[in-house]
Amino acid sequence: MTAAQTWLDKSLSPDDRARALIAELTLDEMITLVHGPMPNLMKPEEKPADAGTGAGYIGGVPRLGIPALNETDASLGVTNPRQVRKGDGSTGLPSGLAIASTWDAHLAYEGGAMVGRESRAKGFNVLLGGGANLTRDPRCGRNFEYLSEDPLLTGVLAGEAIKGAQASNIVCTIKHFALNDQETCRHVVDARIDEGALRESDLLAFQIAIERGQPGSVMCAYNRVNGEWCGENDFLLNQVLKGDWNYPGWVMSDWGAVHTTAKAALAGMDQESGYQLDKQVYFGPVLMKEAVEQGEVPFERLTNMVHRILRSLIDKGVFDNPVVPSEPDYEAHGDISQAAAEAGIVLLKNDGVLPLGGGLRKIAVIGAHADVGVLSGGGSSQVIPVGGPALELKVSMGPSSAFSSVTYFPSAPLAAIKARALNATVSYASGEDVAEAAELARGADLAIVFADQWCTEAEDLPTLSLPHDQDALIAAVAAANSKTIVVLETGTPVTMPWLDQVSAVLEAWYSGTRGGEAIGRILFGEVSPSGRLPISFPRSVDDLVRPQIPGMIFGPPEEGKTIPTSFPNVQQHKGKFSVEHPEGADVGYRWYDRAGKTPLFPFGFGLTYTRFAYAGLELAGGETVTASFEVKNTGAVAGVETAQVYARIAGGQRLIGWARVALEPGESRRVSVEADPRLLASYDAGLPGWRVAAGPVEVTVGPDAATVALKGEAVLSARTMKP
Ligand code: BGC
Repeated sequence: MTAAQTWLDKSLSPDDRARALIAELTLDEMITLVHGPMPNLMKPEEKPADAGTGAGYIGGVPRLGIPALNETDASLGVTNPRQVRKGDGSTGLPSGLAIASTWDAHLAYEGGAMVGRESRAKGFNVLLGGGANLTRDPRCGRNFEYLSEDPLLTGVLAGEAIKGAQASNIVCTIKHFALNDQETCRHVVDARIDEGALRESDLLAFQIAIERGQPGSVMCAYNRVNGEWCGENDFLLNQVLKGDWNYPGWVMSDWGAVHTTAKAALAGMDQESGYQLDKQVYFGPVLMKEAVEQGEVPFERLTNMVHRILRSLIDKGVFDNPVVPSEPDYEAHGDISQAAAEAGIVLLKNDGVLPLGGGLRKIAVIGAHADVGVLSGGGSSQVIPVGGPALELKVSMGPSSAFSSVTYFPSAPLAAIKARALNATVSYASGEDVAEAAELARGADLAIVFADQWCTEAEDLPTLSLPHDQDALIAAVAAANSKTIVVLETGTPVTMPWLDQVSAVLEAWYSGTRGGEAIGRILFGEVSPSGRLPISFPRSVDDLVRPQIPGMIFGPPEEGKTIPTSFPNVQQHKGKFSVEHPEGADVGYRWYDRAGKTPLFPFGFGLTYTRFAYAGLELAGGETVTASFEVKNTGAVAGVETAQVYARIAGGQRLIGWARVALEPGESRRVSVEADPRLLASYDAGLPGWRVAAGPVEVTVGPDAATVALKGEAVLSARTMKP
C-alpha cells in the first residue's frame, strides 16, 4: 500500500475507504459498476474473462482492486442455471417454509452459512438470496422461497439466514422489495395498500431482517406498489429504505425490472442487473452517461450509487477477501440441510399410528416418486443436487418453462423406510394406477401415501387442491387400509378433503438434499417432530381474501390479451392492472382472526410424539411486554415445544415472540419472551412513526395461533417510535 492508497487501509471505515476509491474512478468506471449482464446470455466472444456462470455479473476495476461481482441465485442453495457448469451440483436446503417451520434462528443461520460457503467455494461473491416477502396468498408460486405470513417470524429468520451467508465474506441480498405477493402478472401488477398497513406487515418483515442481517444489497421487486414500479419507487427506496431505515447498502434491480434511467436513479435504484432482460441498457455507457452529462442524473447521485456498492463490498469483506474456488464439504453440508428438514417437518394429524414400530410385516409405499427422491421447487432458485437430479420432468409451456423443470433430489423416502423396517416387506406403487395402489394398500399392515405439489417462480397455483388427482388416490388408499399415513411434499398449503379418512398427515414440504432420510427418521420416531406451520392452511380457497388470484384467467387463450401458463386452460392477463389489499396488515392468521374464520390448520400448529403443559404466566408491561412462563414435557419422550406469545392490538391478533424449548420427559423450564415494541404499535403515517396506545393489552401464550394455554393482561405506557 502506498501512502496514497488509503482505500487499502483496513483501519479506516468502509465509507472512508469507499470515498478514497471513488476519488480515483473515471466516469466510465463508475458506470461499469452500476450495470451488468446475465453472463450466460452473452456471446462467448463478448464474455469477460472474469465473468462466471451465475445469474449476474458486474465488471470490476482491476487497477484499483475492485473485484468483478459474480452473482449466483441461492435462495435454497447455489444454483447452476441450465447446468452450464456440467455436473456441478450443490447442497439443497429444504424450502423456505420448511426452514421457517423450525422457528429456529440458529438453524436459519446455519442454512444461510452453508449456502454462503458453497457460493464462495464456487467462485461467487454475491448471493441472490434472502427472500423475505410475506406469504400473503397461499397460492403464490414462490412461497417455497419465502418464510412465513408473519413479519416477526420472517424478519428474524431471513435476517439470520443473511447473517449466516455473509459470514463467508460475500454479499447476500434481501429480496424482493416489496409486496411481490403474486407471481401472476408480476411484471405489470400494481399492488395497492395503505401506508400504515404496509409498514406493519411486509415492510416490517424487511425492516427486522435488515436490522438483524445487514444485507449488503436489497433487490427490488418486479411489481408496482401504489402506482410506481418498485425499481423507481421513491417512497420505498428513498423515503423508507434509505431515509427512515438509514440503509447504507445498494439497491440492485431484479432481472428485467428497470424501465428508465433518470427516474429510476433518482428514486433510489443503484444498479441495473441482467440488463439483457430490460428494453434498453438504462444504466449503461450510453444512457447513463448521457443522463449524467446532461444533468438529469446529478453526478453526486451516480457517486452515491457507486459509494453504496463499494462500501458494502468493503464492509462485507468482498473487497479484502477475493474468492478462491475450493471443494465444499458436501457431507457436512448435507447434515445441515437434514437437520433443518427434520426440525421443519410438521406433524398435522396422528391418531397414534406414528411413530412406526418394529412389529410391521407389510408396508405399502405409494406415490410422488418416493422410490427415487423428493421434490424441489422451480424457477431461478432451482438447485441441481450433488450427483444430479433423481428425476427431471420437462415443463413444456408457460412463463416458468424457460427456467424450470420438475426436479426430484436423489434422497428416496422408500429407501429410508426400507432401511428402518427391517422385518417388513416394503412394496411400492407409483400411484398412477389408483386401483393397483389401493390393492397394494389393502394387503398391507399400513400404507404410506406420498403426495406432492410442484410450485414455481413466474406462476401461481390455480387451486390449493393436490394436482394430478392425488386427492382421489389418497381417498382410495384410505378406503383400502384403515392405517393410512399421508406425507405431503408441497410448496405451500393444500386442501385435504380426505383428512378424516386417514390416520396421520406429515407436511414434509420440499425437504432438500437429505429429505428422504429426514422423513424416514420422523416416521420411525428417531426424531420427534417439532415443526410448526409458518402459514395458515385454509379449508378452501373461498376462505382467502381473494378467492381468485388477480390476473389469472380460467379458459382458453385470447390472442393479444392473455399469456398461457403451464396449467391447462389457465392464462395470465396481459397488460397493467392493480390489486387492492383490503386485508392490509392482517395477513394469514390475522385475517382468519379478524374475519372469524377457522382455518384447516392454524398458523403455529404442529404435533409431536410427546405432550407439553404450560403454567405460571407472569407479564410485565410499560415500554414493552415481557412474558415469562413455564413449559413442561409431560409425555414419555424428548421433544421440542415452540411456545408462542400473542398480543391483541387494535382488536387484532399479533405474534409478539416465541420460545423454542427442548425438554426431556418430565423436564420443565421457565422462559421469558420480550416483544419488539413495534409489534405493539400502530403505524401512524401522520406522525410519522410507530404509536403505542396506553392501556391494558391482552396477552396469550400457547402452542399455536388458535389455542390459548395461558392468558393475562399487561399495561402499556404510551410511546412513539421513529419509523
Ligand atoms: C428473480 C430473482 C432472481 C433473478 C436472477 C429473477 O427472475 O425474481 O429472484 O434473483 O431472477 O436470476
